[in-house]
Amino acid sequence: MTERILDVNDLRISFDTYSGEVQAIRGVDFHLNKGETLAIVGESGSGKSVTVRSIMKLLANNAMIKGGEINFEGSNILEKTDKEMQKIRGKDIAMIFQDPMTSLNPVIKIGKQIAEPIILHQDMSKSQAYERAAEILELVGIPNAKQRMNNYPHQFSGGQRQRIVIAIALACNPKILIADEPTTALDVTIQAQILELMKKLQDKIETSIIFITHDLGVVANVADRVAVMYAGEIVEEGSVDEIFYNPQHPYTWGLIGSMPTLDTEGELISIPGTPPDLLDPPQGDAFAIRSDYAMEIDFKEAPPMFAVTESHRAKTWLLHPDAPEVDPPAEIKRRYAIYQDLQAGKDVHSNQGFEEIISEDNSIMTGEDQENDSQSNDPYAENLAATGLDPDVRTSLGEEDLHE
Ligand SMILES: Nc1ncnc2c1ncn2[C@@H]1O[C@H](COP(=O)(O)OP(=O)(O)O)[C@@H](O)[C@H]1O
Ligand SMILES: [Mg+2]
Repeated sequence: MTERILDVNDLRISFDTYSGEVQAIRGVDFHLNKGETLAIVGESGSGKSVTVRSIMKLLANNAMIKGGEINFEGSNILEKTDKEMQKIRGKDIAMIFQDPMTSLNPVIKIGKQIAEPIILHQDMSKSQAYERAAEILELVGIPNAKQRMNNYPHQFSGGQRQRIVIAIALACNPKILIADEPTTALDVTIQAQILELMKKLQDKIETSIIFITHDLGVVANVADRVAVMYAGEIVEEGSVDEIFYNPQHPYTWGLIGSMPTLDTEGELISIPGTPPDLLDPPQGDAFAIRSDYAMEIDFKEAPPMFAVTESHRAKTWLLHPDAPEVDPPAEIKRRYAIYQDLQAGKDVHSNQGFEEIISEDNSIMTGEDQENDSQSNDPYAENLAATGLDPDVRTSLGEEDLHE
């Protein structure tokens, strides 16, 4: 049996704002199996970052946990004290943030930045920790790792800096690694390299990964399972094959339709409209107003989760036994045919081009990079906290390093 390392049940998080209560997370359920990679996919603002930040208990001051639990190794993270969380962050659960520059301290040599969490969390001497740091740096593919330990972040390229951020996250062999859009700021080639690297590392290091992206195109390469988020809910969840070849939710259809493929002819279709206002979420299916497949009930009552298989479920009334037959988009029907072949045991992956594609820019997702939602004025502090470091530690460390 697969062992669950993380179990999130009915998570509800709101933010207190001048305009009212932003219901950012509205009943999220998911789990993470040991050793697997779960991808969480969805448009900007769907609640991906808030979901994973709650696992680290790194939420903005105006966050209100309205309900639910996050079970990690038998206890609820939401009930842990700050002190207990400091021991978990960086050691048991580590996080990689989107922008490598804000995750690295510009005035500290990178060797020290990798060794610091090791010294803090592992029972190692300083020299042992530095040795381990050099090993990890080599593992993530930085040439001349030992010598480069003495360099500052600006002396590395963007792709190398992202590798260093991964090295810091892996320094203490975390049980869970959370990567929140770790490649968005990088160009396509580097993105592909970083994803390749993460895949390789997972084979070497026994860690479970939650990989967040707004780009469904990159998911096939890295994930075992996919959860699709929309307006603070998970609307569909399944194995990579189930999501790519047998998607059931019209929102997932939209994401797939707007994903570039090798054999895409003509323009990509983007999902019309914008996500709902979470200050006043709609009472029915939150995607209904943007969906060509919405029925009367979608505007009145929120759909429950319907099971498709043991591993696949989707929150859409279309799966209700009494729902009328609908005619999905052509691309989705094409995929359903592939799914039939998959079920019949045919190897269809080898001749499908889209798995290999790392899409450069997903047109419906533009604006994604503006993570400005007043989450924090001090990205360093947050990111240092994620590695288990006291944010105030950096000034002293930094100065000492500068004057060496
Ligand atoms: N500190 C905050 N105050 C108010 N609203 C917030 C805050 N943080 C996030 N939000 C809102 O919560 C929703 C989910 O945000 P987020 O998880 O960052 O989305 P994603 O990572 O999927 O792009 C968005 O509507 C965002 O504006
Ligand atoms: Mg985000």
